[in-house]
Amino acid sequence: MKTYNWAVLGCGTIANELAQAMAKEGRTLYGVANRTYENGVKFAEKYKVSKVYSSIEEIFLDDSVDIIYLSTPHNTHISYLREALKHGKHVLCEKSITLNGAELAKAQKLAIDHQVILAEAMTLYHMPIYKELRKRMERGDLGGLRMVQMNFGSYKEYDMNNRFFNPSLAGGALLDIGVYALAFIRWFMSERPDNVVSQVKFAPSGVDEQASILLMNPAGEMAAATLSLHAKQPKRGMAAFERAYVEIYDYPRAEKAVITYTEDNQQEIIELGKTSDALVYEIRDMEQAVSGCGNEMYLEYTRDVMDIMTEIRKTWGLVYPEEKAEVL
Ligand SMILES: NC(=O)c1ccc[n+]([C@@H]2O[C@H](COP(=O)([O-])OP(=O)(O)OC[C@H]3O[C@@H](n4cnc5c(N)ncnc54)[C@H](OP(=O)(O)O)[C@@H]3O)[C@@H](O)[C@H]2O)c1
Repeated sequence: MKTYNWAVLGCGTIANELAQAMAKEGRTLYGVANRTYENGVKFAEKYKVSKVYSSIEEIFLDDSVDIIYLSTPHNTHISYLREALKHGKHVLCEKSITLNGAELAKAQKLAIDHQVILAEAMTLYHMPIYKELRKRMERGDLGGLRMVQMNFGSYKEYDMNNRFFNPSLAGGALLDIGVYALAFIRWFMSERPDNVVSQVKFAPSGVDEQASILLMNPAGEMAAATLSLHAKQPKRGMAAFERAYVEIYDYPRAEKAVITYTEDNQQEIIELGKTSDALVYEIRDMEQAVSGCGNEMYLEYTRDVMDIMTEIRKTWGLVYPEEKAEVL
């Protein structure tokens, strides 16, 4: 397989993790573009990145760049996605990939038109443990899916200006952490939920501080998710099948699952992959997809999750400043 040139747009916390994952693979990033040039220079020095672009536009114009890793805040994604895809770049974009389903549909059309891969950097889709569970589901070991339960809570300081609570930075629990919970649910469900109800508690800034969501698909598979930005919860997921239930801890980058077979209460512990290698798996799957050796990026799940989040926000009347009312 060809060695692809990766460039990062944004060089904050998660871009540092990507650079470290590249280093684990014995590789370096090709380029970095960043809003604050000086931070890009520091990042390049730290990870021996050969190219620092003096303006963000240059990353799109560089013919040597194959894959752009987009790691700026999610309300900035669509404008960068548009440029990257139009210039024939493959894009691995941090979550949430866009603000809403309409933006994602436009980005997806551009990716199709320009024959490039567009994907959301949703770690759980790439962890070996989830792939193993998928095999067992497909083999019928667990029986049909009945229920999924998912909690995600993180305690964020009650500061209405930080990105978690600030509407101008597309804050709120749904786009920040709900995207993981819904991705987990979608991974196990055999088809997209078409029946969704929710409750929300707004923060003083007007974004969703806490939410509970109930989902059901045409197959009758059901799920419940609870989210909070102001109360920690265990990152625990549970999928209940006819013959077994599966518990997964630290689920976005899980390395362990416990299956309890309900007929005899036998437990099986599966340990596969490493939490610390989550971005390595993501890089490998992205390159496989780009090389045409199999698409493991699950953009169709990303679409379903984004459409569900858009529908939920519509019922809440939560509209971000960038959004025009008609796109929701
Ligand atoms: N941190 C995590 O564990 C994690 C995990 C998964 C996903 N994510 C997602 O990844 C994204 C970035 O998160 P992070 O934690 O890496 O953030 P971060 O450390 O705050 O870094 C943000 C990066 O985006 C740039 N940026 C900020 N506002 C911008 C704007 N208006 N236009 C262009 N560039 C801008 C910053 O540039 P400057 O240097 O100029 O400030 C910086 O390079 C978020 O969407 C987040 O949801 C984060």
